[in-house]
Amino acid sequence: MRHIPNLKDLSPDELTDILARAAQIKANPKDFRRLLDAESLAMIFQKTSTRTRVSFEVAMTELGGHAIFIDWLTSNFVLSGIEYETEYLSRNVSCIMARLLHHSDLEKIIAASQVPVINGCCEKFHPCQALTDVLTMIEHFDDDVTNAHLAYLGVQNNVSNSLAILCDKLGIRLTLATPLPDDNGESQDAEVQDVIRRSAHVQHTTDARGAVADADFVYTDTWIDMQYFNNPEHEREKQATLERMLPYQLNGNLLAGLDCRIMHDMPIHDGYEITPEMVRDPRSIIFDQAANRLHAQKGLLAWLYAEARSA
Ligand code: CP
Repeated sequence: MRHIPNLKDLSPDELTDILARAAQIKANPKDFRRLLDAESLAMIFQKTSTRTRVSFEVAMTELGGHAIFIDWLTSNFVLSGIEYETEYLSRNVSCIMARLLHHSDLEKIIAASQVPVINGCCEKFHPCQALTDVLTMIEHFDDDVTNAHLAYLGVQNNVSNSLAILCDKLGIRLTLATPLPDDNGESQDAEVQDVIRRSAHVQHTTDARGAVADADFVYTDTWIDMQYFNNPEHEREKQATLERMLPYQLNGNLLAGLDCRIMHDMPIHDGYEITPEMVRDPRSIIFDQAANRLHAQKGLLAWLYAEARSA
């Protein structure tokens, strides 16, 4: 059975297939209204979400199926073993999507599940976001997307890890313009660091201005993990991060005169990783990108159910 913990186990052909299905369903949604007839997706959330929850729920509805929101804190996942709750769940639904604090817990869910499991974002990976991002780049680039240059500015995290894996597999040039990552940071993944070291397509620099100079797409994400952003105990660290990270902020000065598209996976933190002017700049495709979560989710679900049905 196939699961989507990250994008490491998917071949370039499989990733291209998922993206092609997303584009096909987006272009002809009425043709796919019964694709997941009577199927149920369980969506488990340990962390907050707007886009992941909405896009998966709407995707299931528009494909003829149904999605069930499960808040970790008000479910019996808090009382019992992940393996027991998951085994039960996978006998009543045909797919599970989980947004968890720890990838190790996602691995426990995968081990206990009798149905496919999708990572809806953990501390290390955000595979659904990276698929959305490349789908959006394809739509906004006149040439083959493998000729595009994507510059990601900010901190190395779950989003940049997934972009590194995907761009390496698809042959898209990705420059990660970030401070050197903390070896003990919770998003650190040895295989991703190996990709960054050895890939012909993915490179790292600390030079934000150099990275954006010939970029077709300039992308940023939050500098502070979502669970810490409004936490008063992290206020001092938040201020220190802001000062250290300012050279990587997407602002009018950095992007002046550049012919690029501006991307952000949202939620946006005005004045931190991006200024409000850049969010609303004519070059911004941020809201197209966010809306594409729905279409990328449909492509992924269509591919995963096709895999499960053919097994
Ligand atoms: N980009 C993203 O995953 O959005 P949410 O956190 O709102 O789901």
